[in-house]
Amino acid sequence: MNKTRASITAVGSYLPSKVLNNQDLEKMVDTSDEWIFSRTGIKERRILANGLGTSLMAIKAASKIIKKKNINPLDIDMVIVATITPDMHVSATAAHVASEIGALNAFGYDLQAACSGFLYGMSVASSYIESGKYKKIILIGADKMSSIVDYSDRNTCIIFGDGAAAVLFEPNNDNLGMQDEYLRSDGVGREFLRIEGGGSILPTSLDSVSKKKHFLFQDGKSVFKYAVSNMADASGEIMKRNNLSNEDIDFLVPHQANKRIIDATASRMGIKESKVLMNIEKYGNTTAATIPLILSDFENKFKKGDNIIFAAFGGGFTWGASYLKWAYNT
Ligand code: UT7
Repeated sequence: MNKTRASITAVGSYLPSKVLNNQDLEKMVDTSDEWIFSRTGIKERRILANGLGTSLMAIKAASKIIKKKNINPLDIDMVIVATITPDMHVSATAAHVASEIGALNAFGYDLQAACSGFLYGMSVASSYIESGKYKKIILIGADKMSSIVDYSDRNTCIIFGDGAAAVLFEPNNDNLGMQDEYLRSDGVGREFLRIEGGGSILPTSLDSVSKKKHFLFQDGKSVFKYAVSNMADASGEIMKRNNLSNEDIDFLVPHQANKRIIDATASRMGIKESKVLMNIEKYGNTTAATIPLILSDFENKFKKGDNIIFAAFGGGFTWGASYLKWAYNT
């Protein structure tokens, strides 16, 4: 009998209806539609209303899977929410999501690996499935980036957006599903991408608030350089280890941070443009949600047996690539 692998058997997503486009941002900071689109590939992003949390989007995305697959929520073993914008600092968003979707026999926790959160989550979910211990795991990538972005900082506010998407992982004995992964991190990253305030080093105070320490800081140029080389290297390593030529790869599903980073990664891998999946134009960078949002938007393109390479890079730094064989026809 083949090894038990972890396959993705359903996807679901949720995007808030409010659109913030480049023209709106032109009125908020010194920028232009032309600059944003040519430097990032982004035209618009979605924004969740004030007072609503990341869990709302996660619940809606996961509920779509339950409905689509007609599964009994009581059969779900585990719920993982990859996010850097949990509803609250203490009390896992995943625990709330699991209860709200009726997964009352599940356990849930949050996973914080910034833009690589979903990729790391794929590793966690697939390992639990491969162990034989659990049969149904919902992995959600969800972020309300608008809750940590300073809309007077043109370096960050043009990039990020809100959204969520979920996948269901189940066992597969036909050699479909997760094949390999290459994950790395390097603490050098917190110099370049971070939120200083509200943690144990700098707890919230009037001073931390007045100095805007609770907003996301990014040295974009430095992050860009690390992102290009590491995403391409990790993907190259996965190709080499699995004897995959660029012809063998059906699709590249990259984290959507900047179209130029994606283009550079794909070109270093020698992957044709038609195989590189992108929706950054519509949603911007939704951090942990970008990869599952691609799966949701392009689900109809995938065929059983397709070789898909995932690649991400994000805060921490965290990065990596993984290789999955798609398990179903839509
Ligand atoms: O997902 C997690 C990881 N994050 C990433 O991967 C993001 C990586 N970084 C990036 O995507 C890019 O670095 C940015 C999109 C953030 C910035 O693009 P860039 O081409 O690296 O621009 P830059 O920071 O080098 O700035 C170039 C110029 C500067 O002006 P001077 O010094 O040349 O006069 C900036 O002040 O563009 C200026 N600038 C802007 N101009 C108009 C910076 N932001 C803006 C803006 N609108 N929004």
